[in-house]
Amino acid sequence: NTGGSSEAKRRAGEHAADLVEDGEVVGLGTGSTTAHAIRALGRAVDAGLDVQAIPTSFQSRQLALDAEIPLTSLDAVDGVDLAIDGADQVAARDDGGFDLVKGGGAAHAREKVVDAAADRFVVVADPSKLVDPLDYPVPVEVLPDARPTVAEAVRELGGEPSLRTARRKDGPVVTENGNLVLDCDFGPIDDPATLATGLSALPGVLEQGLFVGLADEVHIGHADDVDVLGR
Ligand code: A5P
Repeated sequence: NTGGSSEAKRRAGEHAADLVEDGEVVGLGTGSTTAHAIRALGRAVDAGLDVQAIPTSFQSRQLALDAEIPLTSLDAVDGVDLAIDGADQVAARDDGGFDLVKGGGAAHAREKVVDAAADRFVVVADPSKLVDPLDYPVPVEVLPDARPTVAEAVRELGGEPSLRTARRKDGPVVTENGNLVLDCDFGPIDDPATLATGLSALPGVLEQGLFVGLADEVHIGHADDVDVLGR
């Protein structure tokens, strides 16, 4: 997803990178907004900040390597202090939290593991991502053998699944986990929690892109400032 204003994305990403404190373990999300956070974190590391980072995708790992940010993994740390990640859509919840659709980059499975493990999960986005209600097609990562059965079950849940295909390849997108992605259009999503539970329960679904109530804060970048929602 490369839509939205790149200046707004840059401000949001850099604002979130400023939250990282010395000695912390940081989850690095995926996408063009998080990329700004990773580059800013790299500059802070260069200036002496001591952090260890856990990437959520090939892309964020490469960006972190380029920025010379020390890397680690979930099995080598006691926990994750802070995760910074983008989103395809963000909706405010009645309880003050947020629901997200993620997975536009097909990285939502590892993103959800790391984001959910973090003590503080900060979403970075430009204003175009804030909606009410969510209506972005939900990316559902499926084992290749389960594609037809999951597609049928998604239709029964009221969605229209379409197999994600690659722009510069004849054939489907294959995730970093070796699976396929069904982008499932449910129209406006009035009850994300129930839909998330229904999708996650389907045999063969590795992970689906609804992040229900997981985010602690949303940092929305604008041309010249950043709105912090949720804290
Ligand atoms: C990756 O799979 C997604 O969840 C991204 O976090 C999401 O697409 C945000 O991307 P941008 O920051 O590039 O808009």
